[in-house]
Amino acid sequence: MITVSVIKADIGGYVGHSSMHPDLMAEAQKHMEKAKGQGLLVDFCVTRCGDDLQLIMTHQQGEGNERVHKLAWDTFMACTQIAKKLKLHGAGQDMLADAFSGNIKGLGPGSAEMEFKERGSEPILIFMADKTSSGAWNMPLYKMFVDPFNTIGLVIAENMHDGFSFEVHDVKEHRKVVFNCPEEIYDMLMLIGAPARYAVKCVRHRPSNEIVAVSSTDKLYEMAGRYVGKDDPVLIVRSQGSFPAVGEILEPFAFPQSVEGWMRGSHFGPLMPCPVAKSNPTRFDGPPRVVCAGFQLSDGKLVGPADMFDDFSFDEARRQANVAAEYLRRHGPFEPHRLPMEEMEYTTAPQVMKKLECRFKPI
Ligand code: F6R
Ligand code: MG
Ligand code: MG
Repeated sequence: MITVSVIKADIGGYVGHSSMHPDLMAEAQKHMEKAKGQGLLVDFCVTRCGDDLQLIMTHQQGEGNERVHKLAWDTFMACTQIAKKLKLHGAGQDMLADAFSGNIKGLGPGSAEMEFKERGSEPILIFMADKTSSGAWNMPLYKMFVDPFNTIGLVIAENMHDGFSFEVHDVKEHRKVVFNCPEEIYDMLMLIGAPARYAVKCVRHRPSNEIVAVSSTDKLYEMAGRYVGKDDPVLIVRSQGSFPAVGEILEPFAFPQSVEGWMRGSHFGPLMPCPVAKSNPTRFDGPPRVVCAGFQLSDGKLVGPADMFDDFSFDEARRQANVAAEYLRRHGPFEPHRLPMEEMEYTTAPQVMKKLECRFKPI
């Protein structure tokens, strides 16, 4: 069995919240190399999306392993020291706890992990987003695993015909529900069509119950008790064979869906697919970005990464994202560019509302 763990954190932006300083990535690389040398990791890849440092790790320690989580925590802490020295913006911003305590969940960084038996060919895709929240994967996951207009394999590949099951998390009430698709899609859409509240945690292949996709659903504002930045989620997807093809998994991102995030985590904006090197959200701190690192696993080794959105065929999605971004920007501080009031209460509204409270009179 092999475990793929993706653990990420914003530990300081360069410049502002737009990108990552190369010294932080070099420091992370050092820590990962050491852990690989000691045999804790089979392999790793250090990358980034916007201002988020991404640690992609393979190992044989299983999910939620204390040593692997501590390695990620210590790496982020060491990088924070460098970020502080360089006075990078928001140095250590996602490191919400004072000390590591067994598991990185709830301490600030986001994580997604899956353990499985490596197949003869094991293509995996790691999606990483910046300036948005965990529900951003709902629509793409629906399209990948349920929608035949996106994934023709659901219709014509016998090994996918029996469908996939979705574990959906209510991120506010902290409960979960599993839907069998395709027969329960109407019930499921009632929930996942509201991505601020419900997020798809994982997807399984129904006949085999094999894990196919896992996302991070960590909510930063809940951990911090106040707005400290968006979740900037990650998603791991296994591909080919009984699972959707690489092209079927990437296809949903040809549509730059509207997601919440962008400036001050308080706006709707198009999710723009781009190469890693171009994931520098600078227009109004956005628009939100998604990058994808592709690998072939080989006995746990990460053969890659291939920069999956570094392709002309996503130019049109990027152009449409810019058109949608411009349209939304014209609304300025008005909805539907700005998030609805209920959502603002989890981000930036409380400061202002508190000040106004005493001035309200009955009508
Ligand atoms: C959104 C984001 C940025 C910041 C904004 C203000 O997720 O990170 O849009 O919210 O640049 O940043 P601070 O409060 O650090 O000055
Ligand atoms: Mg940031
Ligand atoms: Mg970020």
